[in-house]
Amino acid sequence: MKKNINDALNKQVSLEAESSHIYLSMASWAERNGFQGVADFLYQHSDEERIHMLKLIKFINEREGNAIIPAIQQPKANYKNLVEIFQSILNHEIYVTSEINKLVEITLKEKDFTTHHFLQWYVSEQLEEEALARQINDKLKLIGSDKMGLYMFDRDLARLRTADTDTKNSE
Ligand code: FEO
Repeated sequence: MKKNINDALNKQVSLEAESSHIYLSMASWAERNGFQGVADFLYQHSDEERIHMLKLIKFINEREGNAIIPAIQQPKANYKNLVEIFQSILNHEIYVTSEINKLVEITLKEKDFTTHHFLQWYVSEQLEEEALARQINDKLKLIGSDKMGLYMFDRDLARLRTADTDTKNSE
C-alpha cells in the first residue's frame, strides 16, 4: 500500500475513533439527564463507529500497511439539550462524508482500485447516517419544547436505531 494512502486511511481511523468517543459522551449526557432511549441509541451509534474504525484497521493491515491506533481528545461533556446533540451529530456526519470523499479522490488519483472498492461501503454508510440524522432533526423541530413530544421521542429513538441495524443485517 502506498504511503499517502496508508496515511489517509490512518487519518480516517482517527476520525472514526473520535466519532465513537463523541457519541459515547453524548450517550452519557443523555443517560444522566433522563433520556434513556436517546442514551441507548447513542451507545449503539458509538459502537457502530468503533466497528467503522476496526474495519479500516483490519483492511490496512491485510494490505500490508501499518494501522496506527490514535490518541483521542476528551469530548465535550455537557450539552444544552437534545437539539444541540442531534444538530452536532448531523454536522459531524457531514464532515465525515467530506473526509471519505477526499479519501476516495486520493485512491482514484493513485489508481488504487482495491482501496477505492473498499471505501464504497463507507460512501453508502455516510448516505444513511446523514439521512438518519436529518430525519431525527426534523422530528425534534416538530416537537419543539413539548414535554410529551420529547417523552415519546425518547421512547421511540432506541427502536429507530435497532430497526436501522436490523435492515442492514438483513441486506
Ligand atoms: Fe463512521 Fe458516522 O461515520
